[in-house]
Amino acid sequence: EQPTPQGHGRVILADPRGFCAGVDRAIQTVQTILDADNPHQDQGLPPVYVRRQIVHNRHVVEDLSRRGAVFVDELEQIPDQAVRAGVPVVFSAHGIAPSVVKEAQRRGMRVVDASCPLVSKVHREVQRFVRDGYSIIYIGHRGHDEAVGVMGEAPDRVHLVEHEADIEALDFGPDTPLVMLTQTTLSLDETADLAAALRRRFPWIQEPPGSDICYATQNRQQAVKLVAGQADCMIVVGSANSSNSVRLVEVARQALDIRFPGQGEQRAHRVDDAGELDPTWLQGMDSVGLTSGASVPENLVQGVLETLAARGFTQVTRARAVDEHMHFVLPAALRPARASRK
Ligand code: F3S
Repeated sequence: EQPTPQGHGRVILADPRGFCAGVDRAIQTVQTILDADNPHQDQGLPPVYVRRQIVHNRHVVEDLSRRGAVFVDELEQIPDQAVRAGVPVVFSAHGIAPSVVKEAQRRGMRVVDASCPLVSKVHREVQRFVRDGYSIIYIGHRGHDEAVGVMGEAPDRVHLVEHEADIEALDFGPDTPLVMLTQTTLSLDETADLAAALRRRFPWIQEPPGSDICYATQNRQQAVKLVAGQADCMIVVGSANSSNSVRLVEVARQALDIRFPGQGEQRAHRVDDAGELDPTWLQGMDSVGLTSGASVPENLVQGVLETLAARGFTQVTRARAVDEHMHFVLPAALRPARASRK
């Protein structure tokens, strides 16, 4: 068994990593409401409800819950008394199906929509192509909140493709106009393979002018490849239900597999936080690559850095793939809440 290095181990930090503009905006949306006075406190009501996890990160959700936010899976879990009192309901960054919006309107809820603008863009693409008579092939992950929301725009016209086998099951003739759209957090390489298979099967299929895979997903995957080209193993910080974090692990595994044939799987790992770091992963390694998904607060990465330092990985360098400067303004519905801020 090989030891870990005695203080000479290197950590290569991926840049960019962590929060994207959509996650930052969604978390700030809830925080802004929590920072204001809770006018419903005397009625025993919470300051805010959030439908689904605001972003797919356990720590973020736990922190906001501690501050008083109440997370629900469905709107029906929000009591009428809270709706009548005007407790705001925040929609998560992953976007929502129109049926949810309608239900919120029907019940007269005060909605603050924190859907990422880049997810909303895909919703608008679905609406436009459906209006123009297209059937849509949507490359995405079954059951993921974002995919559920997008497909909800036109359940009869949007067909989900997750694997190549799903393409075989589709049956369209050349007289059906087809377009392919994708989830924002997919692996670029994997999606390229599925897109190629779709073009082979339906040569007339169209694609939107720009990729639906968002800038943050693309940049973080590019940075992971850069780091995996220099490190002996990779740690990705992110929750298991975070699509983009899981994709980062896959991209890291593929890149490491090229340098260490057959070992990609055992050299790239996902952790929710430093507590999940398995010391055996570090045995025999001189350098560890480190990155985090788009929904991961930087303090969790710092925690992993501290644990790595305690195990002899004290020299930290950065590998920057791209400069990133994206920022989204807060939802318009928040302005009154900000005005009444203490
Ligand atoms: Fe939006 Fe991409 Fe982040 S779609 S929420 S910017 S991962």
